[in-house]
This record gives sequence, structure tokens and C-alpha cells, in this order.
Amino acid sequence: MELEKNISIKNYNSFKVDHKIKKFYKIQSKEEINEIRNYLPKDEKIIILGGGSNILFTKDFDGSILYNNILGKEIIKETKNNIYIKFGAGENWDKSVEFCVKNKWYGIENLSLIPGSVGAAPIQNIGAYGTEIKDYIYEVTGINLLNGKSEIYKNKSCDFSYRNSVFKEKLKNILFITHVTIKLSKIKKFNISYNEVKQYFRNMNSNDITLNNIRKKIIEIRESKLPNPKILGNCGSFFKNPTIDSQSFNNLKKKYPDIVGYKNSNKIKISAAWLIEKCGWKGYKKNNVGVFKNHALVLVNYCSNDGEKILKLSEKIKNSVIEKFNITLEKEVNIF
Ligand code: EPU
Repeated sequence: MELEKNISIKNYNSFKVDHKIKKFYKIQSKEEINEIRNYLPKDEKIIILGGGSNILFTKDFDGSILYNNILGKEIIKETKNNIYIKFGAGENWDKSVEFCVKNKWYGIENLSLIPGSVGAAPIQNIGAYGTEIKDYIYEVTGINLLNGKSEIYKNKSCDFSYRNSVFKEKLKNILFITHVTIKLSKIKKFNISYNEVKQYFRNMNSNDITLNNIRKKIIEIRESKLPNPKILGNCGSFFKNPTIDSQSFNNLKKKYPDIVGYKNSNKIKISAAWLIEKCGWKGYKKNNVGVFKNHALVLVNYCSNDGEKILKLSEKIKNSVIEKFNITLEKEVNIF
């Protein structure tokens, strides 16, 4: 295992902020996790880091970062209709989607181009264009850092919900996810329910709707709306889309007929981007941080090294949404 001391986090977070880290361990295998456990001080502060695409560092960290670099992929089971692929948690998410698409395994193509690692996917139950990873996770394997034991979480034990799971709650920085097993279909089936995708394929012959074409379309949509973190620091959606009751939604609809809302069990999920845009933040830029010009839910770092500035901007945005709509936005991004 590699250890670096007093390094900058800049190359390990997609917001590209620059804070100092006391100790940075690059972990390549599950055996190394227990090795590290043996000599880390009992009260050591720990952050487990994957692709760094859903975390905002706002200060220096006087503890140990355990960077997940466990690689590899293996087919562990195959039935007539399904395939089970076990990925090392440090594998790049999009490369893994590409691998599955190339092999004609159906299920996660709508999750193309989401930044980050495979290990992070179940943590925040990544979702886009009508698909959530919770529907394709077979099991999640990891080492419990409190006792060094290996643990397996079958899908039902992951407590998945919208952008959340047991790994983001009580197992946060406790379970070091080593592998994620994904169950995909060998039988052709697509999810083209997202409006832009539906429109695109509407007049196409069903033979032209292929995994490859869907992946291409999803990539095109993402590239048109969301900034590339390699070029402009960001963490995708900064806030979650809030849900409100239908009475409140109807009241808002009277005042703002263009409000965007979708039924979500007996509540209405509304667009946080719409709320933020209505508060006038879209395209905002000050002190080298801002709100992306094509999507109001994405906070961007033009060239600030200080994550605190992004956090402060997010608080201003949150307060203005409370003031105008009496709705409290919840962060999707983890803050340190
Ligand atoms: N909208 C605005 N202003 C904007 C952008 C969007 O008013 O600046 C409105 C539009 O009416 C649009 C609606 O919001 O129809 C929804 O926008 P979009 O389809 O882009 O989706 P979203 O709800 O903003 C969610 C996920 C994204 C995911 C997309 C596509 C969350 C927090 N975000 O965004 O995930 O890619 O749906 O399915 O649920 C992420 O989590 O980092 C992420 C990018």
C-alpha cells in the first residue's frame, strides 16, 4: 500500500479544491485494509474516498484518507437471463458501464457518464434518466473498519432510497466497500421513459434502439447540460430534488404555472434546479465560484482553491429558496 504525507487533495476531488491532507493511503486490495487498521491510531479521523465526485472539502484534514483503488472485474454467475459481475470498488464507473454495454448486458446504460467510482454508486444510489442503481445491485462487499471483518450486504440490506443508502448513513466511513456485484439482464430491455430520450427514439425502428445508441444519447444529453468535471470543477447536482405534499404543490402551481413536479408515491417531487433558477442564481459567478449556466442545480468552481467558498454559496442559495418558496433544500454532496 502507498502512503503519502501532507499532500493536496486537488487531484482527488472533482470540485478541484485544494486542501491539505495529513495522510493519504492508496489501497489496492482488501488485505491492505486490515494492515492499515493495525497501525492507525485508535482515534484517527478517517475519510474513505472513491472518485471524489460527490464530496466537497472545505478545510484541511488532519487525519487519514483511505483512497479506494481496488480494481478488477469478474463474472461470478450466469443464468439463462442474467449475468452477475463483481467489480472492484475502485473501478471507474463509466468505464464499467461501457464494458457492460459492449457485452450487451442490459440495465445500467442510462447511468452512462456519471463521474466517480463503482464503490460510490451504491452509497448514494446514483440515478439518472429513469434508472437507479438500486435496481441492479446484487450485493455490496466490504470490510468493517471497526472490527476488520468482511461483510456482505444483499440488495435488501442496503436500505436504498433516493440518493441514499445504509452506506451513506450508519455505515458512513465505517464500511470500506471493496466490491460491488451488479446483476444485469441478457434479455433486451430498455428504459426510455425520460422525455428527451423518448422523443429521440420516438420515430425510430425498434431495431435501431440499441444499447450503444442509448448510451450515446445519454452521453449527448449529459454533455449538453452538465459541465465536464475535467474542465470545470463540480460535483453534479449539489442538492437533492425536494418532495412536498400535493396541497403545497397546488398552491405553488397557482402562483407559478410553469413549476416542474412529478408524482412520487403520495407526494410531489419538484425540481430543485427550477427553484434555484427562479431565485435568479443560474449563471451566477463571483469570487471564482458559481452556478452553471446550463443547469442551476450544479455549483461550479471556476478557479478557487477554497471549498469553503462553494459551501457559503450553497448556503446563500438554500436561504434564498427558503425565503421565496419556504422549501428547504437538502445537500446531495457530502461536506467535509
Ligand atoms: N430545470 C430548470 N432549470 C435548470 C435545469 C432544469 O428549471 O437549470 C428543470 C427543467 O424543467 C427540467 C427539470 O428541471 O425538466 C429536471 O431537470 P433534469 O432532467 O436535468 O434533472 P434534475 O432533476 O435536475 C436529476 C438528477 C441528476 C440526473 C438527472 C437526469 C438529482 C439531484 N439529480 O436532475 O443527477 O442526471 O435528474 O435524470 O436527482 C447528480 O445526481 O449529480 C445528477 C446529475
